[in-house]
Amino acid sequence: ESTTELDLSAIEPGQAIKAVFRKQPVFVRNLTPKEIQEANAVPVSSLRDPQTLAERTKEGHENWLVTMGVCTHLGCVPLGAGEGENRGEFGGYFCPCHGSHYDTAARIRKGPAPTNLVVPDYTFNSDTVIVIG
Ligand code: FES
Repeated sequence: ESTTELDLSAIEPGQAIKAVFRKQPVFVRNLTPKEIQEANAVPVSSLRDPQTLAERTKEGHENWLVTMGVCTHLGCVPLGAGEGENRGEFGGYFCPCHGSHYDTAARIRKGPAPTNLVVPDYTFNSDTVIVIG
């Protein structure tokens, strides 16, 4: 089992980057206070795959959203992390293959994807370094 260490210190609020973990894309996003607020304002019971932002981030680091960059429909790489500004109708990620829209917690909100973008196992080694896997 291999791990991936990522330094987050250069990722500005509002910015998302794409990295690689076990040959698959992984997205790391530094959420702005507004994006956090938007995620927390959604009634969880209204979601197709009900999860809170807190359940998808680490305590004390709720601005850091770490997910696989693999659409849960048929595996395309969604847009919104280092590839232009198309973040879909809910401000998160947009999969152009069949039109899945993810919100600022990378939860599926519209389109055919059945579940949220997957949060991999990871830990914070310091305030700005995570180890995935
Ligand atoms: Fe993303 Fe189909 S693979 S919407």
